[in-house]
Amino acid sequence: MDIRFDNAGVDYGPRTALFPLSLALQERRIGVIGLNGSGKTTFARLINGLVKPTMGRVTVDGLDTVAEAAKVLGKVGYIFQSPQNQIILPIVRDDIAFGLKARGYDKARIETAVDSILDRFGVGHLGSRRAHELSGGELQMAALCSVLVTGPDILILDEPTNQLDLKNRALVQRTIMGLPESVIVISHDLPLLDDFERVLVFDQGRLLADAPAAEAIARYRELAA
Ligand SMILES: Nc1ncnc2c1ncn2[C@@H]1O[C@H](COP(=O)(O)OP(=O)(O)O)[C@@H](O)[C@H]1O
Ligand SMILES: [Mg+2]
Repeated sequence: MDIRFDNAGVDYGPRTALFPLSLALQERRIGVIGLNGSGKTTFARLINGLVKPTMGRVTVDGLDTVAEAAKVLGKVGYIFQSPQNQIILPIVRDDIAFGLKARGYDKARIETAVDSILDRFGVGHLGSRRAHELSGGELQMAALCSVLVTGPDILILDEPTNQLDLKNRALVQRTIMGLPESVIVISHDLPLLDDFERVLVFDQGRLLADAPAAEAIARYRELAA
């Protein structure tokens, strides 16, 4: 993966959510931390084109997130802060199948792909369940399946362990650490990022630190003190 910010920033009207920044991201495990409202989600959404830069540009493997938005969306999967908002069909299997149908796959191929992604995460038993009846951890796993089934190279997770109990948190952590895809995780759950190669700290729309986990987390703690 090769994500590049070239003087990219975002204003919402008169308010700057993210001041222009330039950086390249190539590590397989990247964390993003900062206080509420510091620009983390805006930063992450720039990467898959959900937010367009109001200045500069962002590219993913050389593809411009604005000019080649559809290709970028295919490359970068995004799991929202509240996964219940992204599961759109009532039954988990159907929701996982949705993105494949949209790609025009035939029925047999879709069934195989859905079974295989459920198996990959050991959650075959969730396939026939109603999404709105799932626990937080199960919902996070279902969202992971729905996004990864389409084969993105990069996965962005926005606060994936928010509101999970210890058991589900451990499940989600193990799952994230085991993913072969490149992963960008926004989190207030600092121990989740302990082994990450690189952690970005945002403060009031500015990149305050860009360092290995221990150093970045120490900077964040100073900020919050
Ligand atoms: N769609 C939007 N319209 C206006 N302001 C927004 C919008 N999205 C985010 N903001 C503002 O931009 C700033 C950064 O938000 P965000 O990226 O969501 O921060 P974080 O994820 O770190 O909590 C905040 O001040 C927020 O209120
Ligand atoms: Mg956020």
